[in-house]
Amino acid sequence: MNDVFESIRARVKELLESGGADPEELRIRFLGKKGELTALMKGMGALSPEERPVFGKKANELRAFIEQEIEKKKQAILSAAEAGRLKSEKIDVTVPGKRQFVGKHHPLSQVERELTDIFVGMGFDVVEGPEVELDYYNFQALNIPENHPARDTQDTFYISRNVLLRSQTSGVQVRTMEKQKPPIRVISPGRVYRSDEVDATHSPMFHQLEGLVVDKGITMGDLKGTLELFAKKMFGEETKIRFRPHHFPFTEPSAEVDISCFVCGGEGCRVCKGEGWIEILGAGMVHPNVLRNCDIDPDVYSGFAFGLGIERIAMRYFNISDMRLFYENDVRFLNQF
Ligand code: DAH
Repeated sequence: MNDVFESIRARVKELLESGGADPEELRIRFLGKKGELTALMKGMGALSPEERPVFGKKANELRAFIEQEIEKKKQAILSAAEAGRLKSEKIDVTVPGKRQFVGKHHPLSQVERELTDIFVGMGFDVVEGPEVELDYYNFQALNIPENHPARDTQDTFYISRNVLLRSQTSGVQVRTMEKQKPPIRVISPGRVYRSDEVDATHSPMFHQLEGLVVDKGITMGDLKGTLELFAKKMFGEETKIRFRPHHFPFTEPSAEVDISCFVCGGEGCRVCKGEGWIEILGAGMVHPNVLRNCDIDPDVYSGFAFGLGIERIAMRYFNISDMRLFYENDVRFLNQF
């Protein structure tokens, strides 16, 4: 009886050690329904009552042995596969990475963001207005009635008699004052349109940034202080500003504002065309008519406004002489900023 068990044990061992045998096949061959050990157990009935428990014990031991060996073999196969995979999937962390090309902001966006950051730092909120605008907001409410000569320099594209592509961001002043009562402190960057021929300094579409402050007791001194701080932040601490009298229908008094040339400091150079000064924006005290149009009492409140051209600032800032370069989207140009 022992011989049979021993012989099975030996064969199982040999088959497993030789490496050729599939553990699952072995299980079926010895422990399956028609397996060798199963067959032996079935013959147990023919044994004497004394022999039976001894036989049963041996058979169970052998079954446990086979099961254990098969399990060991399965584990060995799995860990060999795992080891192989780890080896083949090894990553060489010293291989240089693939270069990722990260895009950047357009120079006009860079300047717009910088301008916005400076004013937000001074406590201004950013508001937006529509590019398709009513004649009322673009002109009439800004003290520019029909047939006013100021419309000549701001000829734009008309969608209908009363609807146009805004020629300036100044209309946002009115839209803001209609919605919000003083104190008001806002800037509004955005696109504007004019029916201009394209050349080095003109484009039918360009960008402006509008500013508006309205409160009790706002004076020209506040305007000057705000613009001086802005100029120093944008163009450097040594920058000076200069106000020249001008006319805008929606401000009184009005001024054009220059900064001392940030390249030569005022001596005169190519960037400032020998002037020492560079014009950067228009500004003034909000006209009482404009306040009245927005239901704000000019006897109680006063305000200042300013408007600057983002292209113009960007051209000065980056020393670009042709505005068309901004819109051609040639990466050889854009990559330089
Ligand atoms: N809107 C004017 C323009 O397009 C610029 C401007 C001038 C805006 C004076 C203002 C201002 O707010 O006070 O030429």
